[in-house]
Amino acid sequence: MGKSVSRILIGTAVFAYGFFTIILYGLIAIVKGTYFKRPTENEKLDLQLARNRLWDLSGVFEGLSHHILTLQSGFKFHFVSNDIPNTPETINSDKPLVIFIHGFPDSWAIWRRIIANPALQEAVSLVAIDLPGYGGTESLEEYNATNVLERLTELIVTLWTQYGVDSGNESNKKRTIIVAHDWGCVLSMRLAAEAPSLAHRFILSNGPSMKLVESNIRRLLFSANKMLSNAWRSPLHARVPLMQALRTITPLARQLVLSGYIFAMQLHTPMVYFLLTGGNWSLLKSIHITSYNKDEHTHLDVADSMASTMGPSAAESNSKTPSGDAYPPSLGERALAHVLHMAAYYRDRAATARWVKSIETVASLHSIASKKRMASSGAGLFDEGPPGALKASTTIFWGRNDVALDPRICLDGMGDYLVQGSQIVLLPRTGHWTPLERESGAALIKTVEWAAQGEQGDIGTVIVESYPGAQVTFSR
Ligand SMILES: *[C@@H]1O[C@H](CO)[C@@H](O)[C@H](O)[C@H]1NC(C)=O
Ligand SMILES: *[C@@H]1O[C@H](CO)[C@@H](O)[C@H](O)[C@H]1NC(C)=O
Ligand SMILES: *[C@@H]1O[C@H](CO)[C@@H](O)[C@H](O)[C@H]1NC(C)=O
Repeated sequence: MGKSVSRILIGTAVFAYGFFTIILYGLIAIVKGTYFKRPTENEKLDLQLARNRLWDLSGVFEGLSHHILTLQSGFKFHFVSNDIPNTPETINSDKPLVIFIHGFPDSWAIWRRIIANPALQEAVSLVAIDLPGYGGTESLEEYNATNVLERLTELIVTLWTQYGVDSGNESNKKRTIIVAHDWGCVLSMRLAAEAPSLAHRFILSNGPSMKLVESNIRRLLFSANKMLSNAWRSPLHARVPLMQALRTITPLARQLVLSGYIFAMQLHTPMVYFLLTGGNWSLLKSIHITSYNKDEHTHLDVADSMASTMGPSAAESNSKTPSGDAYPPSLGERALAHVLHMAAYYRDRAATARWVKSIETVASLHSIASKKRMASSGAGLFDEGPPGALKASTTIFWGRNDVALDPRICLDGMGDYLVQGSQIVLLPRTGHWTPLERESGAALIKTVEWAAQGEQGDIGTVIVESYPGAQVTFSR
């Protein structure tokens, strides 16, 4: 009885706060004048050209070609790569494999400035994927943790084969590096914790480990509660503990304000649809403008960002890759509801629900773990850490001016979740979109090169060369 009452109360609070957020965002857009702004003919043309540039399967974007990979389970992923998967040249080359995983509301194209880098293309095999339901990758019926992480794991294991990661001999082992941002980072933190054999290094940016977030929230509430009971016990001296309690929950309150949109995503689908597309996509447009932070950007850059979010249009839907593959049919079916698939990650608890691994997944993780162990240091084998602790070497790469994530909630205590060979790097001038901003993008390229070339030298020194003032706040 008590449980169902509290569930109703929580449900009502989530609904009220989500609804309040939608109204608030709507009012802000109306006041700023973006809500009723109609797209000009030029803007429409820019967007169509950008969608063609990013999504025409027969095209080549800055040295990257399109690929549709059908997994054994039948699920189809779209990605771009500088090398052609499953060919003798690619399998026999000794280039490491670097897999890029984007977040909300993006696609492979959030990495466009990084993966276009000629030196990087020369040094590694780059694969930038679209998550299920995003860009050109097939939809899922439900975006629960099991569905999403099973598909992602099957993809990465298949890429290991198609890029010849496990075919090298003892002196010629290729490395796999996973680079991820935002939701891609959230999911990759789970991979690093629950399937650490998938990569030799994770480079993860501006997305939380939900286990750490839960632990930080619990810790802050516990301390604040203790201070309040101190205040209650001696009312005459209550001022100090009351102020302390207030200061303790300030980061929590700030994160709650920043997370309003997550609550709005929990509402009924027509409201979520309105939130994300109302006023001719005014919310996503303003997110895209924010994403460049202090960097100069043109209307073409904003069109690229919008095209990255919207995925292929009808004009690209019949295009074919050089090997004759087309986009999966489910793309046509979700055309109008595309943004609801993106929002479903928040609704279906992909970040927090249990991942029930299939027998096939357990077997293939075991198989690549035994291949990998020969080359790895065995880091993390004996150090279990707290629940959700990452078990693979990880570089956390964090834009300090993130508008969505408070570091006191998302980063404090992260060191306890990291194994040998891990670091946390703070970028003082960067916001949430580290792959897009020029300075952090350059530092990210350097970090990937460092990881690909066998991690010679100190990562802090490497990053500071391209990003003066970057701080390594944790290293193990
Ligand atoms: C995830 O969603 C699928 C439907 O696509 C469902 O069959 C499955 O039971 C769900 N798994 C969990 C753990 O909720
Ligand atoms: C390992 O592979 C490299 C490159 O393909 C080759 O040169 C070398 O001879 C191989 N070593 C052994 C022990 O097979
Ligand atoms: C969005 O733009 C179209 C024209 O492209 C216009 O017909 C429509 O009224 C606009 N919607 C809003 C809410 O301004």
